[in-house]
Amino acid sequence: MVEVHATPIVILDFGSQYTQLIARRVRELGVYCEIHPFDVSLDVLEQLSAAGIILSGGPETTLDADSPKLPAWLFQQSRPILGICYGMQAMAGYFGGEVVPGDHREFGQASITITQQNPLLHIEQPLEHLVPDQSLGATELGGGEARRHVEQFNVWMSHGDRVETLPKAFACIASSDNAPIAAMMHLERPWYGLQFHPEVTHTKYGMEILRQFAVKICNCQASWTAANIVEDAIQSVRDQVGQDHVLLGLSGGVDSSVVAALLHQAIGDQLTCVFVDNGLLRLGESDQVMATFAENMGVRVVRADAAAIFYKGLAGVTDPEAKRKVIGRLFIEVFDQEAKKIDNVKWLAQGTIYPDVIESAAIKNGKAHVIKSHHNVGGLPEQMNLQLLEPLRELFKDEVRRLGVELGLPAKMVYRHPFPGPGLGVRILGEVKAEYAKILRQADHIFIQELVAQDFYNRVSQAFAVFLPVKSVGVVGDARQYEYVVSLRAVETIDFMTAQCAALPLDFLQMVANRITNEVRGVSRVTYDLSSKPPSTIEWE
Ligand code: XMP
Repeated sequence: MVEVHATPIVILDFGSQYTQLIARRVRELGVYCEIHPFDVSLDVLEQLSAAGIILSGGPETTLDADSPKLPAWLFQQSRPILGICYGMQAMAGYFGGEVVPGDHREFGQASITITQQNPLLHIEQPLEHLVPDQSLGATELGGGEARRHVEQFNVWMSHGDRVETLPKAFACIASSDNAPIAAMMHLERPWYGLQFHPEVTHTKYGMEILRQFAVKICNCQASWTAANIVEDAIQSVRDQVGQDHVLLGLSGGVDSSVVAALLHQAIGDQLTCVFVDNGLLRLGESDQVMATFAENMGVRVVRADAAAIFYKGLAGVTDPEAKRKVIGRLFIEVFDQEAKKIDNVKWLAQGTIYPDVIESAAIKNGKAHVIKSHHNVGGLPEQMNLQLLEPLRELFKDEVRRLGVELGLPAKMVYRHPFPGPGLGVRILGEVKAEYAKILRQADHIFIQELVAQDFYNRVSQAFAVFLPVKSVGVVGDARQYEYVVSLRAVETIDFMTAQCAALPLDFLQMVANRITNEVRGVSRVTYDLSSKPPSTIEWE
């Protein structure tokens, strides 16, 4: 079996908004990568057999006495180091270079010129791949190969401070107009600094630069592929649980679906899934989950038809937080009841993924910048005396999706937009009633169906309908009728922390609105939500 964790890159996190993106990019190269706090001990890197270190950017300034410092052991070990932005400035300051506050924050594209050949910015492109502006800054290579060294290209800058004077023993390897020292390298050791962000797609050769660092400079193995990860995960689940039985709360969402598929391959009938149909799912979702897992894959799934229990518990509850609490509590109660009927269970599987792990570590360390509270099955393991099994805890969402496809799940299920744990409960404003859920399910289905049909679904990050329990006038035939309002929401976002309304064509929105008012009884008016996050959130609650 291929060792997927051999020779990883470790990122020391100084709090940049791009830290997770750096890790994802390195992994896209097939190199395993982990994020650790900037003050992690050297022992952790030794245990991991880390092959290289990346110092992330960060929101603070190295000129501040209280800002995060490089760990004392950093330059006493021999692994290659790549400092990005704050990481480069911290390195420059450590070795006696001068870091100064910029006249203004530089944010956006800049053109850099390579000032000295070096292994990190050693980018070769076949001649035909060079677009005209870059061919100006390229030299032809010898040996008859139609390839050139790229000497000038666009990068993404996002910084206030900059390195003004090089530290001793370092050379400048690239310059831009605003940052004369845009990149630097140590003259004897494999230590590099970049003022710009190679992890951002706006940096033209960002992936090539990260590849040079990870594969050429650090000699990392590129074994982090979906097939190898599946093989490794199956083996470690088998080692962990032995002959024990495992319980999984299957929600139909991507993470729990991938866990189900993975565990089924790993331990077959030792897995039992409990699927709670709470009446707050999308149209046909409950049957789809049963068809995919129970019927097609032969996974043992117990379905709890609990819609009536949820609607009863939610009757008269209008406060959004109170609704979330009721849904969370009832989920645990129903799940617990079903689980008690299954004998001999020792493990509870959960679809925890890597960003959750990083976030909870940051909360524990008091280093979290943003904390999101989510509905999950927290509290269950202690209550039920079960051990936790989290086979996705090393993976980013895009990796979970790739694993899902590798495991044979339908792409339609794996690439679905995110759906919140409390389901339609946060998309029906005010009190949740079966009647409202029925209307919303139909309207939402029409919207999604048309997005798919017109090829917009994969171009927006998340789309759904919201039910507003107010009555507005409409005219049907000659009669005035007072019916409910549905709002459509479609957003574009990278991280779901900020988002913009998707600019869907007006004629498309009109066509969806017409279908909804014509086909869904009880709706007289459809609106489109234009707000951005912040200040609005994605869900309406
Ligand atoms: P907001 O509304 O906070 O949503 O802008 C950001 C993203 O999180 C999803 N969301 C949830 N996901 N459990 C989840 O698993 C939840 O309780 C929950 N609440 C919001 C939301 O759909 C959006 O993608």
